[in-house]
This record gives sequence, C-alpha cells and structure tokens, in this order.
Amino acid sequence: MVKICCLGAGYVGGPTMAIIALKCPAIEVVVVDISSARIAAWNSDQLPIYEPGLDEVVKSCRGKNLFFSSDVEKHVLEADIIFVSVNTPTKTRGLGAGKAADLTYWESAARMIADVSRSDKIVVEKSTVPVKTAEAIEKILTHNTKGINFQILSNPEFLAEGTAIQDLLNPDRVLIGGRETPEGQKAVEALKAVYANWVPEDRIIATNLWSAELSKLAANAVLAQRISSVNAMSALCEATGADVTEVAYAVGKDSRIGPKFLNASVGFGGSCFQKDILNLIYICECNGLVEVANYWKGVIKINDYQKSRFVNRVVSSMFNTVSGKKIAVLGFAFKKDTGDTRETPAIDVCKGLLGDKANISIYDPQVTEDQIQRDLSMNKFDWDHPPHLQPMSPSAIKQVSVVWDAYEATKDAHGVCILTEWDEFKTLDYQKIHDNMQKPAFIFDGRNIVDVEKLRKIGFIVYSIGKPL
Ligand code: NAD
Ligand code: UGA
Repeated sequence: MVKICCLGAGYVGGPTMAIIALKCPAIEVVVVDISSARIAAWNSDQLPIYEPGLDEVVKSCRGKNLFFSSDVEKHVLEADIIFVSVNTPTKTRGLGAGKAADLTYWESAARMIADVSRSDKIVVEKSTVPVKTAEAIEKILTHNTKGINFQILSNPEFLAEGTAIQDLLNPDRVLIGGRETPEGQKAVEALKAVYANWVPEDRIIATNLWSAELSKLAANAVLAQRISSVNAMSALCEATGADVTEVAYAVGKDSRIGPKFLNASVGFGGSCFQKDILNLIYICECNGLVEVANYWKGVIKINDYQKSRFVNRVVSSMFNTVSGKKIAVLGFAFKKDTGDTRETPAIDVCKGLLGDKANISIYDPQVTEDQIQRDLSMNKFDWDHPPHLQPMSPSAIKQVSVVWDAYEATKDAHGVCILTEWDEFKTLDYQKIHDNMQKPAFIFDGRNIVDVEKLRKIGFIVYSIGKPL
C-alpha cells in the first residue's frame, strides 16, 4: 500500500488529502499538523474549516484510509510520498518584509523530513512558493541525507475556497513539475499515477520544476489582474453612466476573454492573491525586472484603491460623516461559502469606517465574533503567523458589535454595506429592513447582488459598484 503523509492540515492539506483518500482506496493518507487543536478538530464532528461537501467526504474516509494525526515524525518516517502544504505567509520583518514569502515553516518541515527519514521519499511542494524553492529544499534534504534519495516535485494547488471539493474532483488541470533526470521523471510518474485515479490523463500536465512553481504565481496574478481590470473600469463606469455589469458581460462574450472573474467588487481578498502577487513582485525585483514588478504592483494598487473608494463613497454619501452612526455590515468572509476572513476586503472597509468613528454592526453566517474582533485588531500580514506572533487577547473594539441575524444588524442603522455575496442577502426582506432603519436609508452594495431598482422603489438610496447613481 502506498503511504502518503501531508504536512499541514489547513484549507489546502485537509480537503486535498480527503479527495485523494476518497478516490484512491488503495492509498493510506495521513494528514499531520504541528497544531494539535487543528488535528483534534479534523477528528471531531466540527471540522476546522467550512467548505461545502467537505464533511461528507471526510466522514466517508476518516478511519478507513484517511487519518489526522499530531504524530508528525512517525508518519513522515512511514510515508512514500510527503506533501508539504504548510503556510507560506508574507514576511513581516527583515529582508523583503511586506513582499517576500516567509519560508520558515517550509524550511523547518524540510529539516524535519531530512532528520527523520530512513527510506527514499518523494517530497511534493503543495504550498505556493517562490520559483526556485525546490532548489533550496533539495539543498536542505541532500545536505542532511544518509544515503536516502529525495525527489522534489512541484504540484501547486489551484482550488478556490467555497468550491474546493468540486475543484478537486474536477480540476481544470493538475500540474506536476519535476527534475528532468530519470529519477525525477520516475517520481513525476508516481505522482501522476495517484491523480490518474480520477483525473483524465490529458489534464495532468508535466513540466520542469521552475515552470510549475512559477505557473502557480502566474495563475493567481492573472486572475487577480482580471478583477483589478474590471474594478478599474467600475470607477470609470460610475463617472460616465455606463454599467459595469453590462460592460463586463459584453467584454466577456468575446471567446478570447471569457466571462469568468469579471465581477466588479469592493476588492478581492483571500489568503493568496495579494500574498502571491507581492511574492511575484519581490522575485521580479530580485531579478532586476523593475518594469515587470511595477506592472504587477498596479494590480494591488487598484485593489487598495477600490476598497478606499468604497469607504469614501459611504462617508461622502452620508453627508460626509459616519461619526456616531450605526452602519450594518452584511458579510465579513472574503467570499461566499467560506468562513475564511484572511485579507477579506471587509477588514479594510470596517477599519476605514471606524476611522471615521462609525458604530458597526456585523453579520456573517459563518464568521464568529471572536474572529472578527481579532481581524480588526491585527496588523497587516500577522494573520498568517502562529498565535504567539499575534496580539494576545485583543481587547474588543467597542464600536463593533457582531450579531447573528441580518435584521438585527440593520435595525436602526443609517446605512448597510454588503461586503460578501452570500446568497441569503439576495432574498432578505428589504422592505422590513427599510422600515426598521433610520432615514434616509442607504445601501452600499459592494458585491452587486441586490436589485437596485426594487430597492430604490422601497425608498433606499442605493450605491452599487460601477452602476449609475
Ligand atoms: P493554512 O494556514 O490553512 O494551513 C497551513 C497549516 O500548516 C497550518 O495548520 C499550520 O499549523 C501547519 N504547519 C505549519 N508548519 C508546519 C510543519 N512544519 N509541520 C506540520 N504542519 C505545519 O494554509 P492553507 O490555506 O492551507 O495554505 C497552505 C499553502 O497552500 C499556502 O502556501 C497557500 O498559498 C497555498 N494555497 C492555498 C489555497 C487556499 O485556498 N487557501 C489554495 C491554493 C494554494
Ligand atoms: C484563488 C484562486 O481562484 C485559486 O485558483 C487559487 O488556488 C487560490 O486563490 C489560492 O492560491 O489560494 P480563492 O482566493 O479561494 O482562490 O477564491 P477566488 O474565487 O479566486 O476569489 C478571490 C477573491 O476575488 C474573493 O474576494 C472574491 O470575492 C474576489 N472576486 C472573484 C471578485 O471580486 N470578482 C470576481 O470576478 C471573482
């Protein structure tokens, strides 16, 4: 029986390994993590992450060929293939702070693998890493080797949160980069054989190591660039009377462009787009490619601009001040169908409103009060580091309340900001919400999900991204 061990039981490690276990009954899969609390949650009825369809998959395999364990070394020792799916945050200090990827967790994982291994292993980079990381990892592994052959593969993950299970079951492609040596190619074939249990052969792409590593950063940069392009266009729409939804539809109908990732929004969020573009910028700068770095910086600048433009719109529409006014925030997660708040645009929007002394009442169906308070107290980039590097127990921000109902959040509010596109926000009783709000009642739709005409008929003053006012 082939044995797989995955280091890192997070948003990638957990779901990815669950699907491998589901589709490969002949493979034993063990997911390990240095956080025993996270492992305990994976072994409980309350999984540590919310992802549609994940519960069913985990429950059907757990205890059969899928295991979650804190005994990291034992399972590394026993594994034939080791996936490394640890976090690779943006560095917060030292060389490259604010841009470069922090490979501390990766490096310590590699050193541990080198220490405990007693047999040949395939080590798979699942985390998103800077191009050429495999070379560094190879150095760590081979310098500490005791005659053991390690083959490093790059197998970046392309799943998106909220649709992870579908993305994993039916991927557009699986990318595997390996050394162009006979041993390297043999390792590529071994990993291909795992995916071939459910992924059609023509969707499994083999490349050299550096192409695979760079393709991951490139894919995220291009996806984010599309959003920044349409968001930049949304500002021009507002200035000219064009409607960004109509413009995006017309543009996306061009088969060379396609319709996906052209939804204007309050800005993209999530743990990876910004992190990976900053990483790409840093690599360009290190290679003296200033113009290329500046090109990608533009994607992040427009994203920041979009978030501050939204805050400015709220404040300026509400007679230039939100001081002391109750603002309801509907949605805090960075997108629907996830409880993940990492780099959510809601953090910047809420901080902006708090800066103007608003009182904020937040409702999100999947995010807890504790998480929201922590997010609003934390410094940029600190969220992806272990608890000892984060504020200990942030004192709750008094002007922020978190409630478990959209009607409670909007009661007596002067304005409503929709920051996540949860389906339930489309079907709220907006007449009831309007009746219970201060007048004039404002709605600022950061996700373009409400029926603007209908809401205007009810009496709301509505602002939607990129739509005529
Ligand atoms: P995460 O923070 O949810 O999970 C990482 C886990 O690794 C944590 O539980 C941490 O405790 C654990 N860890 C750290 N060092 C370890 C070690 N030495 N041994 C064992 N466990 C260790 O992160 P994530 O969202 O799963 O992302 C992981 C990587 O995958 C990142 O590089 C990210 O860029 C990439 N990625 C993420 C997504 C996504 O949707 N979240 C998608 C594609 C790629
Ligand atoms: C993204 C990529 O889509 C995945 O392929 C990749 O594996 C992953 O990053 C990663 O490397 O972590 P994810 O961040 O989970 O996935 O979610 P997306 O669906 O890409 O959304 C990212 C952000 O962009 C969200 O805030 C979303 O609301 C926003 N978005 C997305 C828009 O504003 N407009 C769009 O048209 C699409």
